[in-house]
Amino acid sequence: MRGFCGKKMSVVLALMASTTMAQAEDVEVLHWWTSGGEAAALGVLKDNLASQGIGWVDMPVSGGGGEAAMTTLRARVTAGNAPTAVQMLGFDIQDWAAEGALGNLDAVAAAEGWDAVVPGALQAFSKYDGHWIAAPVNVHSTNWVWANKSILDGLGIAQPKTWDEFVAAMTAVKDSGKVALAHGGQAWQDATVFDGVVLSVGGTDFYKAAFVDLDPAALGGEQMVEAFRRMEILRSFADDNFSGRDWNLASAMVINGEAAFQIMGDWAKGEFLNAGKVPGQDFLCFRVPGSEGTVSFNSDQFAMFNVASEGAKAAQATMAADIMSPAFQSAFNVVKGSVPARTDVPNDAFDACGKQGMADLAAASAAGKLVGSMAHGHANRAAVKNAIYDVVTAAFNGEYDAAKAANELVSAVEAAK
Ligand code: BGC
Repeated sequence: MRGFCGKKMSVVLALMASTTMAQAEDVEVLHWWTSGGEAAALGVLKDNLASQGIGWVDMPVSGGGGEAAMTTLRARVTAGNAPTAVQMLGFDIQDWAAEGALGNLDAVAAAEGWDAVVPGALQAFSKYDGHWIAAPVNVHSTNWVWANKSILDGLGIAQPKTWDEFVAAMTAVKDSGKVALAHGGQAWQDATVFDGVVLSVGGTDFYKAAFVDLDPAALGGEQMVEAFRRMEILRSFADDNFSGRDWNLASAMVINGEAAFQIMGDWAKGEFLNAGKVPGQDFLCFRVPGSEGTVSFNSDQFAMFNVASEGAKAAQATMAADIMSPAFQSAFNVVKGSVPARTDVPNDAFDACGKQGMADLAAASAAGKLVGSMAHGHANRAAVKNAIYDVVTAAFNGEYDAAKAANELVSAVEAAK
């Protein structure tokens, strides 16, 4: 890490000299990384900044998917008190940039050569009007299953390769008296599961037609009805207390051997690692059966808000340079469960699931099978995302049958567009 720190420092000094020589201030960071695994990853970032004399003012707002964090952010900005840096996803970054609220990171991006190493799919969100406005810290993906290996071994269940095998495996677990599917009934978690289920039914093209292009024929067609049927099946494998449960408590059920599977983004891996569990030995990671080849991604980025003082600007530049250094991208993502947001980071430090995540991302990107996560704000803007959340959650809770849910999806999306 030291070599990179030296280079980073010189970049930051050059940036500061080009404005006025200012002492970097503390950074106030708004984020939703409040689970054990997330906090461990955040610690890597805090420590890195601390080693450069930059203090951290914490502004945590819990709630996966960041909806609550975005509400708090809006209130802060409206009150004229924007934080220095904000964890943000996909289209939210673009919306804040369109409001003119974000600072310009072009100088640090040019000095560090971000254009050449950040994948285009991420740059689409990190840049607005050709200017860098956010620094991507990772790439997560949502179409993963996390499994307790000893439960599967005990029941003689092999890693399921198809949707039908997955259902058969969950049936065997349920029959054994354990919980088959650990789930937390919160809209963003239902939607996260839906990302993988929609891919398992119709693959990349169907997913894009529905969630990116918002094609009514895809949103309301037979494949979408099938996706909602699969959600009904999944619901039948959750325990009675799933409603409102936080995602990390659902992960804990798999970690503790109470439940066999969780469908969740790879931030779940951070919980397993934080509990001292080892992939391949204690737990398995595999793509939602039927969705292999496609990666539904989301990237946490730090957007830097417009700040007046030179010291705050210097701190933002240091933080952005820090986040983007290859050594940091490796150290952070190894803990977080995600994979690096730049293409030139070696995979040596990553465990088997991380290596698979990196390989899947590269292969999906080369094959045109990298899609933005609907659930995590990378397929469409918040209004559309929230409209889809409402229908998916209502259906999951039994308010609509599968056919009615697909119909409702068409009208909800139409109204939100
Ligand atoms: C973020 C992850 C986070 C997860 C759960 C997602 O939206 O991208 O970084 O761990 O929410 O909080």
